Amino acid sequence: MPAVLEFDGITKEYRRLASRRRFRALDEFSLKVETGEIFGFLGPNGAGKSTAIHIAMGFMGPTSGNGRIMGQPFGEASARRRVGFLAENVALYHRPAERLVRFYGALNGLSGSYLAKRSREVLHIVGLQHQAKRNSAKLSRGMVQRLGLAQALVNDPELLILDEPTSALDPLARVMVRELLLEARNDGKTIFLSSHLLSEVELVCDRIAVLHRGKLVRIGRTGELLQSGEQSEVVARGISAAIFPGAVGHNGVVKLHVPASTQRAVLEQVWNSGGEVVSVNPVRRTLEDIFLEVTSDRDSSLPEKSP
Ligand SMILES: Nc1ncnc2c1ncn2[C@@H]1O[C@H](COP(=O)(O)OP(=O)(O)O)[C@@H](O)[C@H]1O
Ligand SMILES: [Mg+2]
Repeated sequence: MPAVLEFDGITKEYRRLASRRRFRALDEFSLKVETGEIFGFLGPNGAGKSTAIHIAMGFMGPTSGNGRIMGQPFGEASARRRVGFLAENVALYHRPAERLVRFYGALNGLSGSYLAKRSREVLHIVGLQHQAKRNSAKLSRGMVQRLGLAQALVNDPELLILDEPTSALDPLARVMVRELLLEARNDGKTIFLSSHLLSEVELVCDRIAVLHRGKLVRIGRTGELLQSGEQSEVVARGISAAIFPGAVGHNGVVKLHVPASTQRAVLEQVWNSGGEVVSVNPVRRTLEDIFLEVTSDRDSSLPEKSP
């Protein structure tokens, strides 16, 4: 199956006016998003996520490299109607919510009673049915983000590109977005979402990629990245924690993390010391761990914490 979204060796340089130097926001960036997956595009602020998304949407061209969206080269208008896009900083005209959604639907070629019905439907999906007549200027930032999502959904797109879709949302609205994404995937749609909030992504994404300073530093299925399989937690009784460097002892129970390669030797050492092994479990890493791992040795600035 052809990729829905494909970046092929994309480099993007911005000119820094003050220093007159060129700054590389994307560096030979390549990535393929397949049909029907929820793909998480992760990275700390400034990694280049929005730049990549804006290039895919055709808002600006790359310095070099190319890519395709829905089988069309970036920047070709015909693919746009099959794509729903939510910008990181949603900026909407000051109009009543429902009229705004209808406006975006009309831009995508919808009309008549279908457009009216579909506009009400998407407002309902994002939980704004009671705000339909309210002017977007009067809505909270979280509501504006939801309205942006309604706008992105109105043309029933095959590909949804969402740039930090939950950044302004409260926990309940985040759950709503997660459910919406899973439902969209069940309908066969593809979702590409960027986030610097790791826990958001962990819950829904089939695959994730981590971008750091314009480079792809990690990519894989979410489950595989989380289930490292490389480390186990061994819990033992009847031994002294001092036998193992880094082990923690409490109330006669000793806990230690060991790499898979030495697990067998450690268990034998516990038995040989007259101890008892209580449990051995693979250590499940969090996306946060992976994120720190891939970014910490390259940069002293850590990703922002979730609010
Ligand atoms: N229009 C621009 N002109 C100059 N530099 C920019 C511009 N847009 C983004 N940048 C810089 O490019 C880098 C990547 O930004 P961005 O793509 O917004 O990252 P992210 O979305 O991952 O936070 C940042 O260092 C940012 O300051
Ligand atoms: Mg961004």
